[in-house]
Amino acid sequence: MTDKKKPSGLDNGLTNYGDLEFARYLRRSFARSMGYTGVSLDKPIVGICTTESGFNNCHRHFPEMIEAVKRGVLAAGALPITFPVISLGEVFLSPTSLVYRNLMAMTAEEMIRAQPMDSVVLMGGCDKTVPALLMGALSANRPAAMVVGGPMMTGRHKGERLGACTDCRRFWGKHRAGEVDSEEISLIEGRLAVTSGTCAVMGTASTMALIAETLGMMLPNTSAIPAVHADRLRSAEETGTLAAKMAIEGGPLPSSLITRESVENALRVLLAVSGSTNAIVHLAAIAGRAGIDIDLEAFNRLSDDTPVIVDLKPVGTGYMEDFHAAGGLEAVLREMPDKLHLGCRDITGQTLAERLAKSLIDPVDRAVVRSAENPVDPLGGLIALSGTLAPDGAILKRAAATPALMEHEGRAVVFSSLEDLAARIDDPDLDVQADDVLVLQNAGPRSKSGMPEAGYLPIPKKLAAKGVKDMVRISDARMSGTAFGTIVLHVTPEADVGGPLALVQNGDRIRISASEKRIDLLVGENELARRRAAFVVPTAEPPRGYAQLYRRHVLPATLGCDFDFLRASPRQDKDRQDT
Ligand code: FES
Ligand code: MG
Repeated sequence: MTDKKKPSGLDNGLTNYGDLEFARYLRRSFARSMGYTGVSLDKPIVGICTTESGFNNCHRHFPEMIEAVKRGVLAAGALPITFPVISLGEVFLSPTSLVYRNLMAMTAEEMIRAQPMDSVVLMGGCDKTVPALLMGALSANRPAAMVVGGPMMTGRHKGERLGACTDCRRFWGKHRAGEVDSEEISLIEGRLAVTSGTCAVMGTASTMALIAETLGMMLPNTSAIPAVHADRLRSAEETGTLAAKMAIEGGPLPSSLITRESVENALRVLLAVSGSTNAIVHLAAIAGRAGIDIDLEAFNRLSDDTPVIVDLKPVGTGYMEDFHAAGGLEAVLREMPDKLHLGCRDITGQTLAERLAKSLIDPVDRAVVRSAENPVDPLGGLIALSGTLAPDGAILKRAAATPALMEHEGRAVVFSSLEDLAARIDDPDLDVQADDVLVLQNAGPRSKSGMPEAGYLPIPKKLAAKGVKDMVRISDARMSGTAFGTIVLHVTPEADVGGPLALVQNGDRIRISASEKRIDLLVGENELARRRAAFVVPTAEPPRGYAQLYRRHVLPATLGCDFDFLRASPRQDKDRQDT
């Protein structure tokens, strides 16, 4: 282990063109042009990797947070230097933010490695930014501490609390069904997202923040502090202080924190909080950077042995502000010590056992974080399904599903693409019944839509108008962490590569069984072989650029949609720890 490395400050990674002293002289001279004194430049450097952007509403308070991080770094005797990487504001990216997660991870990895810093503070928040920063930091493997933006506060409408973006969907559903008129829906538009910060429910951003903390990459119990709370700034200052200590004293390296055991702890937390389905993709990608695979059968064993103890939207009732007030992640961890690897360490150097032994949180609000003896649900929120329709797996958020539909057989109503879905879903002549199974093809990682959050297929208007609220929906797409329904996602192999999903036709019978963890296409092998022989790859390769790189190298959802050339082999992981 080389966690304890002497800080090299500005000398870090100095390129030697034959005259190292000149290279140092040149670098110091350019740094001094920014107004730094020699005294400052002699200090260890803490890079602050920031992701503020005019296209990222969730990070709009980062300037104030950066000031707090800097304060902590300076007071602890190191020099803070901020640098940007690309930012991903969830709703502003086309075709989808997921497509750019790997690009962001690459920029983070390369900028952390290429620039002179002894440690780095990772500032993220919005959905894809947290996994991207963790993936990049793990591959760069410099001492790193994460601080997130924290969740938004809720808004109010007619005496009711509103939070992005579960309530966006709820009210839009009511609008589609004719229960909320145009005037009211535009009034609500201004009341859904009312502060800086990430979505107000246990969506992808909050789930990923809890996962980052569970992996040990964040100060204890800071993942859920609301964006506008003073504790958010205090946690930023404390993160700066710790990052300075990491720069001065060395380590710990991300590779010593993100281990098979801490990844399993993160899976437990994901299940116990009934977190976002997207988190399983991101966690697979993060773990993949450490050479760790997430085995879906093992995941199901954890799921059947991890009760849901958090009652938050989108599946429950509360918001993230309630979760923080109720005790945050620590309240969850304290309920399940027997299910966690207590030897895992965090950035402060303490083990999880040490952390929990001195846990000082107030009495927990049991309406929000239940006790293990009185869970919201005795089983974990997510399960993997597999079977003839998804030989390599698919994901079902059973906590968000209608119990009666989790054991179901129905007739397939197939949409071959997002365009086809948009064109026909509300057609009054569409042949569809409430007990049919809606199937969307060609919305997976390699499709031209880039695995959008389109797996939450709308209920056909004519059924919605009759009061149908949920149907079994199956696709190779993802679903927003803030959505709900009996929705099977991430079907692998995806349709674009000719997986069985590509072969489904209208009228085929499909069976799902959450209890058996199965999803099957009830079509004979001869007929499937005939359809397979006629399969034509639906998407042309993009002619150039990042889109081409993406299509050529993106891995399936089960491997986190990372690029094949960025995953670490177990051997590489060992090398990285030794360097
Ligand atoms: Fe940024 Fe939801 S849009 S977290
Ligand atoms: Mg989201």
